[in-house]
Amino acid sequence: MRRGSRTPTLEALTPADMPLRFGRYRLTGILGSGGMARVFKAELEGSAGFRKAVALKVIHRSVLQADDKLVRALLNEARLGGLLHHQNIVETYDVGQVKGRHFIALEFVDGITLNRYLEQVGPPPLSACLELGAQMAQGLSAAHKARIEGRPAKLVHRDLKPSNVMLNREGIVKVLDFGIAKTLAAAGGRPRRAWSRARRCTCPPSRPRAAPWTRARTSSQPG
Ligand SMILES: Nc1ncnc2c1ncn2[C@@H]1O[C@H](COP(=O)(O)OP(=O)(O)OP(=O)(O)O)[C@@H](O)[C@H]1O
Ligand SMILES: [Mg+2]
Repeated sequence: MRRGSRTPTLEALTPADMPLRFGRYRLTGILGSGGMARVFKAELEGSAGFRKAVALKVIHRSVLQADDKLVRALLNEARLGGLLHHQNIVETYDVGQVKGRHFIALEFVDGITLNRYLEQVGPPPLSACLELGAQMAQGLSAAHKARIEGRPAKLVHRDLKPSNVMLNREGIVKVLDFGIAKTLAAAGGRPRRAWSRARRCTCPPSRPRAAPWTRARTSSQPG
């Protein structure tokens, strides 16, 4: 952490400012930034030396000031995420506020986003594409089948894209960001709007001698 100077805002933090206390968390690195939030690597610290690595998603100040709806959408992400438990869906651990800054604490995925993987390694072979698609489908299917308050939630993601899918070092796919997901029940049981917002997640064609995707160089760099 910089000494003798004021701590910069979360938006201006650089790796040189780490580690930095943020409520019950200790920010240790910067994972990336999206339209709604900046994502930090962090540790939840408990008593008796308890520690848990998390990805801490802190909503941009500009979003807080400009659009209450977006903030509600993100908090909805946390609410829905807390109800989903599946190997192919990133876990949501906590949601809260520190000095007026809303955050969501997520399972830290030690890996790489699919868009960064495609940039760095290129298209994986067809067999890996099928495996990747099958794991994504299992996560999405689990969300669709999840029961909320005893009733099937029929949750659809609505923002499926390569930057919202990560591969961890063991080759497990994790779907991220159910931020604008909606239950079909809440949408009046009709998937129309949900499907129209859904994005196409293209699986690239096979390339001869492409590196197997499970051997991808994974990193914790912004993706
Ligand atoms: N749970 C996580 N574990 C590890 N890294 C993560 C996690 N969640 C996000 N990241 C990193 O933070 C980056 C930013 O994520 P974020 O969801 O804010 O933006 P995005 O998906 O690129 O854009 P969008 O605003 O459309 O969601 C990701 O690209 C990824 O590198
Ligand atoms: Mg995202």
